[in-house]
This record gives sequence, structure tokens and C-alpha cells, in this order.
Amino acid sequence: MILPNLAAAALFCSSAMAQIDPEILEANPHLKDLVMPKITTPRMPRWKDVEHPLFEPYPVEDGELADGAIFDQFNEGSTEIFKKWKVSKALNKDGKPFTGNWTIEEPEILPGFDKDYALLLSANQESSAIARKIDPPLNNINKTLIVQYEVKLQKPLNCGGMYVKLLPETSDPDYSSFNDASPYRIMFGPDMCGSLTNKVHFIIHRYGSEHQLVDAPIPADPSFKSGLYTLMIHPDQEFEIRVNGITVKAGSLLDPELFEPPLQGPVSIFDPEDPIPEDWDSRKFIPDPEQTEQPEDWYDTTSYLIVNTKARKPNNWNESKPLLIPDLDQPKPQTWDDEIDGEWPGMVKINPECEFLNTDAGEGCGPWQPPLIRNPNYKRQWEQPVIINPNYMGEYKRRTIVNDNRTEDTDASNLDGTIGGIGFELFTSSALIMFDNVYVGHSITDAENIGNATWNPKFYIETLLSENVQRAFHEQQEVYTNENNTFVDIYKYEISQLWLDPKGYSLEIYEHFMREFAHSRWEAVRQFPVSVFVFIMLLFISTTTGIFLFDTLMRPLSNKLTERKSGEKASCKELDQKGVDEHKKHIQQKRVEGTSSATTDSSTVTQRKKKRS
Ligand SMILES: *[C@@H]1O[C@H](CO)[C@@H](O)[C@H](O)[C@H]1NC(C)=O
Ligand SMILES: *[C@@H]1O[C@H](CO)[C@@H](O)[C@H](O)[C@H]1NC(C)=O
Ligand SMILES: *[C@@H]1O[C@H](CO)[C@@H](O)[C@H](O)[C@H]1NC(C)=O
Ligand SMILES: *[C@@H]1O[C@H](CO)[C@@H](O)[C@H](O)[C@H]1NC(C)=O
Ligand SMILES: *[C@@H]1O[C@H](CO)[C@@H](O)[C@H](O)[C@H]1NC(C)=O
Ligand SMILES: *[C@@H]1O[C@H](CO)[C@@H](O)[C@H](O)[C@H]1NC(C)=O
Repeated sequence: MILPNLAAAALFCSSAMAQIDPEILEANPHLKDLVMPKITTPRMPRWKDVEHPLFEPYPVEDGELADGAIFDQFNEGSTEIFKKWKVSKALNKDGKPFTGNWTIEEPEILPGFDKDYALLLSANQESSAIARKIDPPLNNINKTLIVQYEVKLQKPLNCGGMYVKLLPETSDPDYSSFNDASPYRIMFGPDMCGSLTNKVHFIIHRYGSEHQLVDAPIPADPSFKSGLYTLMIHPDQEFEIRVNGITVKAGSLLDPELFEPPLQGPVSIFDPEDPIPEDWDSRKFIPDPEQTEQPEDWYDTTSYLIVNTKARKPNNWNESKPLLIPDLDQPKPQTWDDEIDGEWPGMVKINPECEFLNTDAGEGCGPWQPPLIRNPNYKRQWEQPVIINPNYMGEYKRRTIVNDNRTEDTDASNLDGTIGGIGFELFTSSALIMFDNVYVGHSITDAENIGNATWNPKFYIETLLSENVQRAFHEQQEVYTNENNTFVDIYKYEISQLWLDPKGYSLEIYEHFMREFAHSRWEAVRQFPVSVFVFIMLLFISTTTGIFLFDTLMRPLSNKLTERKSGEKASCKELDQKGVDEHKKHIQQKRVEGTSSATTDSSTVTQRKKKRS
């Protein structure tokens, strides 16, 4: 089972910082770096894997598609691929090299087809650039331009572009000088940066200036599923952007409302000869002239929050247990100079006894402070009331004139020239981004067929798997947070998890527990009673399995031994019996023989006697 380990954990698991009084932090800023947030990662649940059929390449090569289109599936081996795609050797505008790594990999997180390789960018707060030549170059005069490619994250992305640039022909044979200053014909694709940027860029270069689509559509759901991005520019100046095959934006390149600056200026503009008259009053409301002073009974309280004097220290709050204790494991930094910095005060850490507090039950350490509540007497700062403006004149309607200086551009879709290359030039925070199935050409049918044959079934597999993953996480949460669940329910769940993936589960439980155990034995036992239980169960199961196996393996052998032993015993008995019988016989014989021998003896004696005589 392939586990979307780190990233999934980052997505689904929360990190919690032990509660430290903000005032303590305020007074000891160095604590912020010191008291690392404790990541309480619940054990990763197991989930059912789905079938990952073997990848079958879409049956075309570069140049075999209509009109000399290019199509990259990144499946012909990295040697071949990096003959075409060249990492930039240039410096960026800041004088830094492009250091992001480009490799050919299979996705590890939410994989689709087996052995379906893609171009992977691994970068960490750095610029990355790679490009390939399109030879012969594509000429879009009177043609439709299609750019289509897939993006798949392998790590949650904080900030980074994922767009492509269509490049003009250059004298540079392999675009090794490609950088952020290189001109481009079109820039297209998703860009995400925190809460500031989340859009699918579309920028077209025309007559030396960049025209950017305003109100750009938002990218595909930035989960670990593949997103399919398609841009179409038609010869009638209409464009269309599709995300995962669905049209999210369409319009005309020439629409002055859609691009900034517009490719084609507005037909009419406000007449500069007709400015808004200075005495034109377009204010709907004005301050009430009768209420200019702050009323005397109005007072501004100093704070919105006040101390809750009714709050009582919870019984479970232990003030004599300090929240912070000296951290003797932290040595004095080498950079600390007693003469300059004064005596080394030592580091502190959170008291381990205060790390896992049940704040809901009122548990706490250190000096207790009553909480703050909203001040019921708080009144916001006084503002002068407003009234409807009796002199309101409405909006002034300015005269418009024909825009003489209007830029005429009726064939923007022809672009400024041919497309000689395609490249990714990106700055990203810590990132693992996969690009796949890059198509640049003129055929909507080809692009749709490619999308239908590659992205569609892959997305289906990813969705199934993703649902299994999410279900597993929800199930885990359900089991652990439902107050009605007893330990038995939890154990049942854990055993079902063990059943689903015995090896992976046992390993993880083991690692998880050992990590905690190294930290604090009793905490480990306290925190992971289930782990301990499962551990014991595992031990039990393995022992019983061991005994069973031993027994099964050893039985034939031991049976043989027993057989032999009993055989031996039997023969011994027989021997014994025989011996006894023989002995008896022997004795009887002896007895018989004895009489006869006596006679013999006597006869011998007589014979001897005879000889003597
Ligand atoms: C890129 O590759 C180099 C050399 O293989 C390596 O030292 C570096 O850590 C890699 N960077 C990333 C972000 O993976
Ligand atoms: C493109 O179309 C325009 C208008 O239909 C025509 O005048 C022009 O000759 C065409 N150019 C090419 C290169 O076909
Ligand atoms: C409070 O903490 C101190 C020091 O750890 C301990 O000796 C004492 O028993 C605790 N009191 C309660 C009520 O838990
Ligand atoms: C057009 O541009 C010229 C030169 O910049 C300027 O003098 C003229 O007023 C402009 N016309 C309009 C209608 O804006
Ligand atoms: C691709 O699939 C969609 C949806 O199933 C369908 O509407 C479209 O016609 C297909 N495109 C081609 C070129 O077969
Ligand atoms: C727990 O059981 C009670 C009574 O059966 C029920 O009302 C409540 O919704 C249950 N809580 C959860 C989280 O299922």
C-alpha cells in the first residue's frame, strides 16, 4: 500500500502548541523559538488501496499530432526527456542561479496509473527554470492555439507558481539562458500564494506590453489530485480557459473589460474638456450639523475586554506546579559572551507534567489569572451622526467623446510571432510539483482526446483513492471523538486497522510508540493505551502464531520421534519379554541340561575314574 505519508499528515493532522501565557512569551521572546510546538500527530489510519492499472502511453509521439503540435508524457526515460527539456543555466533578475531540481518521477501521493511518470519540480524557497524547444516553431496566424497540461502537488504548497510560458524563437539553441526576464508570448496556468493569490493566470504579450486577464478563474482544488488546465485562443479573438475540462472563463481578447491594460482601448472616453464641476454635490449623506459635539454622557471605556472578576480558579489548576522549568539539556550557546550578554540565565522548557493538560477539565499550571470577558459597558468611540444631504444633486454625467488614441488590435490571436519553445520559470516555497501531459498545438480534438485518455481515468482513480483516505481519517476521528464510544469500540477499530494492513500498521504503531517512549515512558503508556494494548495483542498474536507455527512445523517431526520412540519401546518390551521368555527357556533348558550334564559329569567322572584306575 502506498501511503501519502507526510503530506497527508500535514493536511489532516493538526499541530497544537502547549498553552503558554502570552505575557510570559511577551516577556521572554526567546521562548518562542525554544518552545517548539508539539506536533500531536494521531496515528495515520490505514485505508483500502484501489487498483492502479499499468500506464499505457497515449499512442502518439511528438510531431505525429496534427499541425506539428508537441506533446510530452514524460514516460520515455529521463535521459531522453532531458535531451529535450533543459534546465536553465542563467541567473535570475536577482543574480541567483535557478537551483530547483527537475526529475522524472512517479507520484507517491494519490497515485493514478502504475508507472505513470511526470516531470517533478522539487524546490525550497528558490527559483527554478526549465524549457524545451518547439521545432519547427508553431505559427498561430489564423489558427487556434491550445495549451494544455496537468499539475499535481505532492506536498501542500504555501506559495508558488505553476504556470507555463510560451516562448518566442531564440538564437539560444536549447533555452539555457531562459530566465524571468526572457520575453514570452503567453503565460498561462495556476498561481497560488497564501491568501493573496489563487488564480489561473492568462497573460498575453502584444506589441511590447503584457495584457493580463483580470478577474482570473481559480485553480483546481489544490489537493493531491491532478488538475488539467487548458487554454484555447481562437482566430475570431475568442478565448476559453478550462480547468479539469470545465469552462471556467471565456470571452474576447478584445474586450476592454477583460484585460488590463486592454488590448483594444475603449471606443469612447470621458471628454477631458468636461470635468466634474467643483460645486457639484454628489454626497448622499452629510454629517448632522445639529450634532457636532460628543454628548456628555458618552464615555469611551479604555478597553473592550475586562477581567472577569466572577471567575474562580478551577480546582484542577495547580499553581504550585510551575509551567516552565529550567531546561538543563540546553547548553550555553557558543555565541553567548558573559562579558557582553551578562550571566547566562539558562533556558527553560515547558514542564513535562503540564504538556498534556485537559484544559476543558480546568487543568492548568503556574499562576492562575482570571480570563477576560467583553466589557458590558463598552461604547465605541463617538462619531458624528449623518443625515440625508438636502442638496444632493445625483451623479454628474460626463460627456464622452470618440477615443482617437484607441489602440486597434483585431488579430491579437495571431500573437506577436511564432512559438519556438515552452518553459516553466517559477519561484516556489517548499514544493513538490508534478507536470504532465504537456500539449501545445492547434487541435481542440487532439487536446480533448488527450485529456479524455490521460487525465480523465487518472483523476477517477485518484478520486477513489482520495475518498478512501478521507473516509479513513473521518472514521478514525469519529471513533476517537465520539463520547459514546467505549474502549472496546476503539480496540475493535484498531484491530480492523491492523487487519487492513498488518505490516504497515504494526510498524507505525511501533515507531509511534517508541518515539513517545523515548520522550517519556509513562506518557507513552498514558497517551497510547491503545497502542500498548495493540502491542500486547500483537505480541500475543505473534506468540500464538509462533506457537501454532512451531507446532505445525514441529508436529510431523515430533510425531516421527514419538513413533520411533514408541517403536523402540515396543521392541524393548518385546525384547524384554523375549528375554524373559528366553531366560525362562534358558533356565528350564539349563535345568534339563543340568540333570543331563550331571549325568554327563558323573559319566565323565566315571570316565576319569576309569582313566585313573
Ligand atoms: C537538489 O539537488 C541537489 C543535488 O542533487 C541537492 O543537494 C539539493 O538538496 C536538492 N534540492 C532539493 C530542494 O531537493
Ligand atoms: C488570415 O486571415 C485574414 C483574414 O481572413 C487574411 O486576410 C490573411 O491573408 C490570412 N493570413 C494567412 C497567413 O493565411
Ligand atoms: C501540585 O503540584 C505539586 C508539585 O508538582 C504536587 O506536589 C502536588 O501534589 C500537586 N497538587 C495537586 C492537588 O495535584
Ligand atoms: C491622443 O493623444 C495625443 C498625444 O498624446 C493627445 O494630444 C490627444 O489629446 C489624445 N486624444 C484624446 C482624445 O485623448
Ligand atoms: C471528451 O470527453 C467529454 C466528456 O465525456 C466529451 O464531451 C467530449 O466529446 C470528449 N472529447 C473527445 C474529443 O472525444
Ligand atoms: C451519544 O448517545 C446519546 C444517547 O444515545 C445520543 O443522544 C448522542 O447523540 C450520542 N452522541 C454521539 C456523538 O453520537
